[in-house]
Amino acid sequence: MTLLGSIASKAGFSNGRAWDPSTGIPDLTGKVAIVTGGNDGIGFITARELHKKGCKVYLACRNEEKAQDAIKRINEASPGKPEGLVFLPFDLTELKSAEKAAKTVQEKEQRLDIIVCNAGIMAWPYELKNGVECQFWNHLGHFALVKPLLPLLIKTSKEPGAQVRVVSVSSMGHKFAPKPDFSSLDAVNQNFGSTWTRYGQSKLANILFATALQERLKDENIHVNSLHPGNIHTSLTRGPVASYGFFGKLMQSISSYAAMTPFEGAKTQLYLAASPEVSEKDYRGKYFVPVATPATPSAYAQDRELAEQLWKLSEEAIKKADQLASA
Ligand SMILES: NC(=O)c1ccc[n+]([C@@H]2O[C@H](COP(=O)([O-])OP(=O)(O)OC[C@H]3O[C@@H](n4cnc5c(N)ncnc54)[C@H](OP(=O)(O)O)[C@@H]3O)[C@@H](O)[C@H]2O)c1
Repeated sequence: MTLLGSIASKAGFSNGRAWDPSTGIPDLTGKVAIVTGGNDGIGFITARELHKKGCKVYLACRNEEKAQDAIKRINEASPGKPEGLVFLPFDLTELKSAEKAAKTVQEKEQRLDIIVCNAGIMAWPYELKNGVECQFWNHLGHFALVKPLLPLLIKTSKEPGAQVRVVSVSSMGHKFAPKPDFSSLDAVNQNFGSTWTRYGQSKLANILFATALQERLKDENIHVNSLHPGNIHTSLTRGPVASYGFFGKLMQSISSYAAMTPFEGAKTQLYLAASPEVSEKDYRGKYFVPVATPATPSAYAQDRELAEQLWKLSEEAIKKADQLASA
C-alpha cells in the first residue's frame, strides 16, 4: 500500500486497492441473494452488480415504490433478466416483517447463496421505535432476518460449487460505541448523550453479530464477515441533517465533494459477498476496510463474550416480538 493509501485508509477512505466487481466476481447464474436496503446507496450498487453477474437478487426494502424504481434502474443497466430482481418487503424496525421476509424466501427458493445485511440509518435523533433505540435496529432487524434463513443457507452450502456468504455492513463508526452492555434492551436503549455513540453501538453490534454467527457456522462451508465500506456520498447523511440541521447539511455538502462514490463504496461488500478469494483464503469472522482489505476492529469488536451476550439479547428480543410491536 502507498503512504497516501495508508493515510486515506486510516481516515476511513479507500486504500486504493484495485478490485473490480466486473472481473473479480464470477458468473453467478442460478444463485440467489438478498440485499437489504437495495434501493439506494451502496445497497443499490451491490444489488445491481450481483444481478449483472446473473444472480437472482431480492431487494429487501421498506418502501415498495423506491424498490420498484431501483429494479427499473437496474434493468436499464443490464437488460434482459427482469425475473432476476424481486422486491421483498422488509422493515428493519419490525421483527414481524423480518420473519415474513425470511418465510417468503424459504417458500419460494430452493437455495440462498448470499445475504448482504446493508440497510441502516446513521446519527438519527434519539427515539425508541417499537421499544428499541432506533439505530440499534441496524443490528436487530438483520438478526431477525438471517436467523430463520440459516437452514436454507446451510442446505445451499452443501451443493456442489457453493460459496455461501453472509456480509454484515458495519462502519469505522463502531469505534464510537460506549463501553458496551448488551445485558438487556434497557441497557441498549440508553441515550448515551450522543447520536454518534448510539450509531457506534449499532455498528459494533454488526461486527459482533458476524463473529457470533460465524462461530455457530464454524463447521459449515459458509463465510461470514463484516466491513467498513468507506466514507461514501449517499443518502445516509439524512440522519445528521435530522439531528443537526444546518451543520448536518454542511456535512452533506462536504461529503458530495470529498467522499467516495457509491460504486467504490460498494466494492468491499461485493468482494465479501461474491469473490472466490474469500473462500480460497478462508476468511471467516473477519472485519474488512476498503477496498477488500482485512483489518483489525476495536478491542470491543474482538470480544467474543460480548458477541455471545449480544446473540442472547437478540434471541430474547425476537421472542418478545409481539410485546415490542405494541411498545
Ligand atoms: N455512506 C457511508 O459513508 C457509510 C460509512 C460507513 C458505513 N455505512 C453503512 O453502509 C450501509 C448502507 O448505507 P448507505 O451509505 O448506502 O446509505 P443510504 O443511501 O441511506 O441507504 C440506506 C438504505 O437502508 C435502507 N433503510 C434504512 N432504514 C431502513 C429500515 N428501517 N428498514 C429497511 N431499510 C431501511 C434505506 O431505505 P430508504 O431508502 O427507504 O430509506 C436505504 O435503502 C449502512 O449500514 C451504513 O451504516 C455507510
